[in-house]
Amino acid sequence: MANSRAINSRIANFRSYDVAARRAEVVRQTDLTDADIAVYDDGGLGIDQADRMVENVLGVIGIPVGVATNFTINGRDYLIPLATEEASVVAAASNAARIARGLGGFHVSSTAPIMQAQIQLVDVVDPAAARIRLLEARDEIMALANEQDPKLVSVGGGVKDISVRIISSPEATYVVLHLHVDVRDAMGANAVNTMAEAIADRVAEIGGGHVVLRILTNKADLRLTRARAVFDAELIGGPEVVDNLIHAARMAELDPYRAATHNKGIMNGISSVVLATGNDTRAVEAGCHSHAINADGIYSSLSHFEKNADGNIVGTLELPMPVGLVGGATKVHPAAQAAIKMLGVESADELAGIILAVGLAQNLAAVRVLASEGVQRGHMGLHARNIAASAGAEKHEIDAVVARLIADKSIRVEHAETVLAEIRTGN
Ligand code: MEV
Repeated sequence: MANSRAINSRIANFRSYDVAARRAEVVRQTDLTDADIAVYDDGGLGIDQADRMVENVLGVIGIPVGVATNFTINGRDYLIPLATEEASVVAAASNAARIARGLGGFHVSSTAPIMQAQIQLVDVVDPAAARIRLLEARDEIMALANEQDPKLVSVGGGVKDISVRIISSPEATYVVLHLHVDVRDAMGANAVNTMAEAIADRVAEIGGGHVVLRILTNKADLRLTRARAVFDAELIGGPEVVDNLIHAARMAELDPYRAATHNKGIMNGISSVVLATGNDTRAVEAGCHSHAINADGIYSSLSHFEKNADGNIVGTLELPMPVGLVGGATKVHPAAQAAIKMLGVESADELAGIILAVGLAQNLAAVRVLASEGVQRGHMGLHARNIAASAGAEKHEIDAVVARLIADKSIRVEHAETVLAEIRTGN
């Protein structure tokens, strides 16, 4: 459900709040209650629930959940939960969202939520004719598949089409039928796999040969979500950083070695929201990476950055985004439920748009830093905080110790201990 109040995602100094104050602010702005947000206390998942989710359970593993701020998406503000073990991801996403905010924020759109299943026929004697026979039987195949999920059909989903491909190599030829299924607000794996298994025998009767695979494809290229945003050149750092940023982005389009790292930056944002909302990170990652092969067959950048007539940067991203609100961990994981409530999303499409916006923001933030000061300065600040804490600095002493470690260009525990002793004795 949408949050009952309008959210203001621009929260000054949110970083400097303590955890209790951050929770209070999120509860104040969203429909989450104190009790809802308290699920994050024990890692968000009790042991009994975990024991029902997978086999041979020993425990659960905690991952920090931070809130990204400054996001306006299709004219509406969101507070976005990100689950990640990597420092800087939440800050970077929030920072890039601030750079886009004054110029309209993020604009997102999606295709219909079409997932596909593949049914593979082997040993077909007449593959070309088999393909045509299967296409002739389109209505029968679709009806048989739709019988498996009347509930999905009743809410406007179900099989919308089929296609048939012939895949050949010197060793073998396969006839492969694709079911195109509108899965509405589900991720869709269960729905399409059930259908694929149910129609497999009939597909073999019509096509000939016998069935081997009958499973969804994670290359969800009929379920695309797009994001677009204009990033303010001044806030990016001025014309020189803008030009360097475009060079950095162009290199990711041309060079697979750079593309892999560039895309990893996008996935830092995407996987964090996918995980926080209990969706399948591997399905999304498989879909995104399969989408990174360009028209020349080369692994390339998933995003595109260009300079507009005002000298600002326009970033765009278009990706498969197979996420759901119904079924799977999203429905049973208490922390995932809290994340969905915090977002106030009403459809899988809306969630997919938020995920793309965070991916684009994360990407812009990373490439901007690379095109200017480099990543290590920021990382060193965070590293220094950890070192100061390891040396025994109390909360109120950390900033002073960190400042000295950075000024002295020596981020080591022994040095932090010396600095801490000096601060405490006033020397
Ligand atoms: C680090 O997790 C992600 C980056 O390497 C992404 C990039 O290089 O664009 C900073």
